[in-house]
Amino acid sequence: MAKMWAGRTDGTTNKAADDFNSSIRFDSRMYKQDITGSMAHAAMLAYKGIITEAESETLIDGLQGILDDINSGKLLIDESAEDIHMFVEAELTERLGDVGKKLHTARSRNDQVALDTRMYLLEECDEISALTKKLVLTLCSRAEEYKSAIMPGYTHLQRAQPVTFGHHLMAYAMMLTRDLDRLKDCKRRMNVSPIGSCALAGTTYDTDRKYEADKLGFDAVCLNSLDGVSDRDFCVELLSTVSVIMMHLSRLSEEIILWSSWEFKFVELSDDFTTGSSIMPQKKNPDMAELVRGKTGRVYGDLIGFLTTLKGLPLAYNKDMQEDKEAVFDAVDSVKACLNITEGEIATMTALTDNMRKAAQNGFINATDMADYLVNKGLPFRDAYKISGKAVAYCIQNGKVLETLTVDEYRKFSDLIDEGIYEAVDLDNCVRKRTSFGGPTAQSVMMQIEEIKRIVG
Ligand code: ARG
Repeated sequence: MAKMWAGRTDGTTNKAADDFNSSIRFDSRMYKQDITGSMAHAAMLAYKGIITEAESETLIDGLQGILDDINSGKLLIDESAEDIHMFVEAELTERLGDVGKKLHTARSRNDQVALDTRMYLLEECDEISALTKKLVLTLCSRAEEYKSAIMPGYTHLQRAQPVTFGHHLMAYAMMLTRDLDRLKDCKRRMNVSPIGSCALAGTTYDTDRKYEADKLGFDAVCLNSLDGVSDRDFCVELLSTVSVIMMHLSRLSEEIILWSSWEFKFVELSDDFTTGSSIMPQKKNPDMAELVRGKTGRVYGDLIGFLTTLKGLPLAYNKDMQEDKEAVFDAVDSVKACLNITEGEIATMTALTDNMRKAAQNGFINATDMADYLVNKGLPFRDAYKISGKAVAYCIQNGKVLETLTVDEYRKFSDLIDEGIYEAVDLDNCVRKRTSFGGPTAQSVMMQIEEIKRIVG
């Protein structure tokens, strides 16, 4: 088929080249943005007297008809078209005749595609934010439920000091709340209109870029037409924000995988979010969490791949930039699916708090508290630390824990120790006394929940 851009050439191309060049397989998802953008353009052309009001109305009605027909399934998108922009314009001209050919006055596909992609991704930012917020609120409500459930906190995956499960879950709520802020920031720079930059050098027509941007709800107009058509920072920023979200989800997933293993048994995932094995009848596998962890690699790939595509591109538009869409669409689809599945998984899991407490009782996570007890008796921390370490070594050799040493045994390490030591190494007290701001106590967890709820609104 002859191309709409036939002119210098006769517009016929090699079939393999056509397929290679075409982006309709993946950019057809922007049909709504393409049509809405074109409606604003048609309105601006009439507003500035570049076409007549009647022509503008005909174009806008025609575009609305195409939108309705695609929405209802009456009009199927032609997979052999070069891209969604060409498809809509060709369909419009087919429906309206010559007036359809006026739509592309004072515009280029270069500013058109930049506009459509921004509009599409602005909506995606809102959807990703809504899903992130839902997960944050679910984490808050599970954290409230388990605000007093003692578990070992880890460093180096070694039991370290006591925390609460609520405290641990709220750490993830903090990460995702920062992600919400990053999404907001990313949206702020995305919300700038490139339309009217035309191919690269603006236009000789007396256009009104601000009028068009206002009509489409943009906050501002880009200041430089070369930048308008060649800037894909908004894609890179969204890819990087989404990569950070995936990193957070992957870390949470890794913990869920560990916690649901027989070695930990800190949580029981709901049957809805696990699978069985085709051969091992006893298995209940955390496939969803593993897939979230796995998809993180692919989203990072989208970011690195597209950054690499942009590297070295001269101004202004180059066809390489068509590669933005598959990267960014894959990343947003992946993160939305992962946020959604993780929210369901967290909402329905059960914490096995007895197992958490047992693990907390066995790892000498109160050794710092023994040292702090000696500090309160007047020893410098470094000396107290050594004494506590020796007591732990003694316990390990004798199959004991700090709670079960006798006062006589304790006194072998320091004669400052008396009966009061039992209160100091009691697990519940160890948590209760960690009253520093942001710590693991039930009150602190509640403060964190309230603050996060206030921030996410
Ligand atoms: N399909 C193209 C893209 O996604 C649209 C812009 C084409 N512009 C051009 N001058 N060939 O980037």
